[in-house]
Amino acid sequence: MSYSQDRLDKLVEKNRVHRDVYTNPEVFELEMERLWGRAWIYVGHESQVKQAGEFITTTIGTEPVVLSRDKSGQVHVLYNRCGHKGAKVAAQKCGKTSMFRCPYHGWSYHLDGKLNVVPHACGYDDTDFDMEDPQFSMQPVARMASHRGFVFASLAADGPNLKTFLGATIATIDNMCDRSPVGEVEVVGSSLPYMHDSNWKMFIENLNDAVHPMVAHASVGHSTRKVVDRLPEGAPTPREAEIISPFGGSYEFFDSLGCRTMPYGHSFMGGKGSIHSSYSEIPGYMESMVASYGQEKVDEILSQNRHNTTVYPSFTLKDAVQVARVCRPIAVDKTLVESWHFRLVGAPEEMLHRTITYSRLINSPASMVGPDDWDCYERMQDSLRSESAHWVDMRRFIGQEKSEGDVTVSPGTSDQASRNQYKAWNEYMTGEVS
Ligand code: FES
Ligand SMILES: [Fe+2]
Repeated sequence: MSYSQDRLDKLVEKNRVHRDVYTNPEVFELEMERLWGRAWIYVGHESQVKQAGEFITTTIGTEPVVLSRDKSGQVHVLYNRCGHKGAKVAAQKCGKTSMFRCPYHGWSYHLDGKLNVVPHACGYDDTDFDMEDPQFSMQPVARMASHRGFVFASLAADGPNLKTFLGATIATIDNMCDRSPVGEVEVVGSSLPYMHDSNWKMFIENLNDAVHPMVAHASVGHSTRKVVDRLPEGAPTPREAEIISPFGGSYEFFDSLGCRTMPYGHSFMGGKGSIHSSYSEIPGYMESMVASYGQEKVDEILSQNRHNTTVYPSFTLKDAVQVARVCRPIAVDKTLVESWHFRLVGAPEEMLHRTITYSRLINSPASMVGPDDWDCYERMQDSLRSESAHWVDMRRFIGQEKSEGDVTVSPGTSDQASRNQYKAWNEYMTGEVS
């Protein structure tokens, strides 16, 4: 690696970042090691491996991993690498099995990754080969932990525990679960994938960039508002219009929501209100919630309404919509964004229909909003090659942050979420993060 620490130390300034953070393949490799190799990264939800033997495959940074459930019900996050000569053991996105078996020479592994059978093992009789030696297993990652079924893992043995890492974002996960009458959510179906030909940070920075919707999403926002304005008096607003029209909100609206940032690069917009606050009620939902919790508690639960909680660097959640978007970096200029949809267990099925409708309208590659963002990321990735300037600005509303305990509040259209992400980025990349 020829990218020097000295160069790396100069990439982030308080109000701008050098283009190399988006374009340099060596910086990307260092990010995989120092940032994605240390932070808690979202792996999956326990409901995806409900039964013994069920597994899913994914990545932590660029490391292939498996999330599995063993016969005792224990959940594991294992490197998806054979202990023999290193072949990827599980190739499917998900499945159910009694054991993992490598397709190359047939070594097989228990669901917790321990080596089970080696074919024609007599060849090892007079060697120091030891079935119990962890180097011959599918090794567990250094740490895994879950909160209300959301499984995160860290490839680093040391660092903050998951609860400390999540900090104030934990209330977003809790709120999404509490919106179920039984306090539980489950993943429905597989993810809706969207491949972006751009650096992973462009997606993660965009989530709390509230100065772009009124430009990038102007056409769909205005068209939807026109549809609403032309509705006959008293006619209900179509669900699609309810979902899309806030994306055409004003600068003042987004400023008033506010942007909240916290340690480790996390952030969210709004809090008590967001672009999801004015959805119409779905028949039967309030009744089921009040029956479970009582009116006062339900009012408290539904009063929280955060937009795009970002658990830096991998996980983003909309509590009021029950959609998670997960960032999976592939190369310096290639990123997979996965949308995952959650059922509120015990709630009317129409709640799930709204969740899916939301994703279809906003997150899908065939939607009317996501491709606006995707186009902007690709334009950035392309034009950052320009020699005309080497820096990317992030100084909007700098100096106007206010502290509220562990949370910093800024006007919604400020660049504070980006500045906060780069503060964390710098700490990981320079090895200062605890
Ligand atoms: S590489 Fe897996 S059994 Fe040989
Ligand atoms: Fe957007």
